[in-house]
Amino acid sequence: MTKKWWHDKVAYQIYPKSFYDTNGDGIGDLKGVISKLDYLKELGIDIIWLSPIYQSPFVDQGYDISDYYKISKSFGTMEDFDTLLAEAKKRNMYIVMDLVINHCSDKHEWFQKALQEPEGKYGDYFYFRKGKNGNPPSNYRSYFGGSAWEKVPGSDYYYLHMFAKEQPDLNWNNPQMLNELYAMINWWLEKGVAGFRIDAIINIKKDPDFKSFEPDGPDGLTSIWRMVESVEGVGELLEDLKKNTFEKYQAFTVAEVFNMKKDELIEFVGENGHFSTMFDFSAHSLSFGEHGWYDSQPIQFKDFRNALFHSQLECQEVGFLANIIENHDEPRGVNRYLPDYARNDAGIKMLGTISVLLRGIPFLYQGQEIGMQNCPMNSIEEYDDISTRGEYKIALEAGLSEEEALKVCYLNSRDNARTPMQWTDSENAGFTTGIPWLKVNPNYKSINVENQLKDENSVLSYYKKLLALRKSENYKEVFTYGTFTPLFENMENIFAYERNSNDKSVIILANFGSKEAILHFEKTVNLSILLNNLEKAFIKEDEITLLPCQVIVAQCN
Ligand code: GLC
Ligand code: CA
Repeated sequence: MTKKWWHDKVAYQIYPKSFYDTNGDGIGDLKGVISKLDYLKELGIDIIWLSPIYQSPFVDQGYDISDYYKISKSFGTMEDFDTLLAEAKKRNMYIVMDLVINHCSDKHEWFQKALQEPEGKYGDYFYFRKGKNGNPPSNYRSYFGGSAWEKVPGSDYYYLHMFAKEQPDLNWNNPQMLNELYAMINWWLEKGVAGFRIDAIINIKKDPDFKSFEPDGPDGLTSIWRMVESVEGVGELLEDLKKNTFEKYQAFTVAEVFNMKKDELIEFVGENGHFSTMFDFSAHSLSFGEHGWYDSQPIQFKDFRNALFHSQLECQEVGFLANIIENHDEPRGVNRYLPDYARNDAGIKMLGTISVLLRGIPFLYQGQEIGMQNCPMNSIEEYDDISTRGEYKIALEAGLSEEEALKVCYLNSRDNARTPMQWTDSENAGFTTGIPWLKVNPNYKSINVENQLKDENSVLSYYKKLLALRKSENYKEVFTYGTFTPLFENMENIFAYERNSNDKSVIILANFGSKEAILHFEKTVNLSILLNNLEKAFIKEDEITLLPCQVIVAQCN
């Protein structure tokens, strides 16, 4: 395998709006990111992915871009951005932008022109279709609920939006539109960004006939996913994109891909794949409800482990996955993957360890390194997120009470990850001197960066050790390129695996159970402990006893 510059790197996702506010308007900004670069460097971060910072009406928090060449005023200026690039470079860090090119904002100039003239040049940058007998062109339900077709006032035309109606989908069959996108991407790469996280990219290939499908819900609609699933050929578009942009710059790309077709792994992330890597969502997908958040199920440990083991084994011959516990679209991993009894420092460290040492590129999400948790809200009004409001409605329509629907949001809402970063125990968690745009989690008094920096046993201090180990001269090779082999799969609550390279074997042993567990080895083991989240380790000859929530990383001699 040809070595690439990003193989051994550790990445961190910043949600700029909630990271750090320097001018007191309650919104995080680029100056805030710059001021925390040293913090991130010390943590062990190399690559920073910024959720969208482009000009946007923020209907979907910046995932609705109205000008790809401008920085949103709420985040700062292009000069701030250039400073960020330069400051990152000084520290050997890389900036990765979010690339949202399946759709743009309805306020984008292209769409505004298209609305004027659906049959004109810009009309063909999007998907305008005539309605059928007073109905939309087909029965697709958008990802955020409701029809995926929006009527153009005063005309027979509808336009397609797979997400919110303010996010019209771009027509990837239009070469002129594509050239404009490619030029924009290259412009950012020329500027010095190291690459992109690529949003919702699996959706770019459409069936231009937009056939209806059997309804799959009481609204008579069918998930638009059915259409995506029914078309072939997304790979050609992705190859063309890569050849015209990323490849020329050796850019690092990480794709958001759900439900890729079977056997396409190699085409997506193989050595000459469309992308450098893509997120492993196999564990997250376990909690997707059939009809929405309201019928989603808590994740069982066994399914969680099987899902991750399966992706690890499937991908190791092919390429690298990007491993995450949470992101801006998910509830916090502590609440999702840890049972009640494990939602403590030991459990949080354990979860971090088993994720970070998997084969692949670890991505931390802001606040994960201090163990941030879901945020209780008192009413639906306290939520900002467009999809949370949609899911709340769906839950009520399905017959849940307001209280029950709110509980559903507590467990699933994207805003759980979007509450402001908890820097200190002073007002607003030190995030802003103004009024934060979204509620601060009331637990900031006990969970915050400042306290944890002072405490060598904190989650944060542990994450530093964990990343340092992964990147250390001695172990970098085995954690980057070493093979992955599951261990103790027959034991119910144990998450264990081995990483092995030519000269080294390292084992990671974690006990997700509430009782201690005894692991028997076939023969006497001679272990050097590299990391332990608890004070003691109980090892004798061919046996290790793990306390509840204990994780041990050890080299086998
Ligand atoms: C991706 C983003 C999400 C956004 C959606 C539409 O899934 O991560 O935040 O709402 O795409 O752009
Ligand atoms: Ca600000």
